[in-house]
Amino acid sequence: MSQWIGTANQSYAPYAMEELRRLIGGVGFTQLAAGEVFLMSSPQGREETLQAILQQEPIFLRHVQPVDRMIEIAGNANDLEQLSDMVRNAVLTFENKRTAVHIRRTSKTEYLYSAADTKAVLDAVLEEIGAEPVVQQPEIIIAIYAAVNELYIGFGTPQDMLSDWPGGAVRFQREEGQISRAKFKLLEAEREFGLNYAKHQLALDVGAAPGGWTSLLLERGLRVTAIDPADLHPSLMAYPTLTYLKRNASEVKFNEGTFDLLVCDMSWSPMLMCKLVLDLEPALTKGATAIITVKLMHRKPLQTIRDVISRLSTEFQLQKAKQLFHNREEITLYLQKK
Ligand SMILES: C[S@@+](CC[C@H](N)C(=O)[O-])C[C@H]1O[C@@H](n2cnc3c(N)ncnc32)[C@H](O)[C@@H]1O
Repeated sequence: MSQWIGTANQSYAPYAMEELRRLIGGVGFTQLAAGEVFLMSSPQGREETLQAILQQEPIFLRHVQPVDRMIEIAGNANDLEQLSDMVRNAVLTFENKRTAVHIRRTSKTEYLYSAADTKAVLDAVLEEIGAEPVVQQPEIIIAIYAAVNELYIGFGTPQDMLSDWPGGAVRFQREEGQISRAKFKLLEAEREFGLNYAKHQLALDVGAAPGGWTSLLLERGLRVTAIDPADLHPSLMAYPTLTYLKRNASEVKFNEGTFDLLVCDMSWSPMLMCKLVLDLEPALTKGATAIITVKLMHRKPLQTIRDVISRLSTEFQLQKAKQLFHNREEITLYLQKK
């Protein structure tokens, strides 16, 4: 028996729970923040449950943390005392380790302290017991979820929590002159799927306007062919490595085996997107990487995703399907051409 806190993008928690139900027999759920955060009770132990999750990572589960300890919230400084004692008592877990403290709160929690204040207090305790408090690249994370009346606390590696960001909420710095927020999706996909776009040479960006994805790939040194009937941002025209085809993607044809990276963010009907991608597939090299967003326009996202993957699987091997933090009504697929 083990307990967990699961997190999904706003309003997608029911799908994360459905995936978990299929994965682990007999799990039960309690909602902690509507449509987003839930408590899961698994009849299996911590290791078995974690292995089940890691082996077939649910698409809509953005973050998971074990519940190793629970503290009834007093609503005063006692709460900080209890948290501090808990860290002191787990000295062997943290000693000599790069340790991050992640705190999230529901809006109606009785817990008084901000994430920053809690972190400051616990960082001091970590130093006292010979751990190294860090923000980035932790070896171990103390994840605290402040529900209405309880603090749920779990210890684990970033890999065990599916993310090294609190609640899997990946934040990127907005740059000056950034063309679109969409750029964050492609950046997050690179991190999530363990890719390095700079290793590719020639990219095809389908549905490229206004050009956030194209700009990222150009900055990484790739030659990019961008297709979109809409206008690309004028700043991109300075790149000699950009070819811009101001057209509908169904009207273009390329030589076989031209591109080693396909990215596609068309916000279109999933089945039409599949047809377009399959029509363009011969233009890709064998083993080429494809990063594709799938719009979830129907009421049954899991079925839509299964249909899309099955359709694309004639030519592509699915590497991973994930709803990224920066995905709204969509998910992102990472595929490789067979
Ligand atoms: C969400 S936007 C893409 C944003 C882009 N990834 C960025 O980073 O700026 C979707 C784009 O897909 C384009 N699009 C939709 N259908 C298309 C088609 N059949 N061929 C080419 N582009 C298409 C739209 O014109 C729109 O500009």
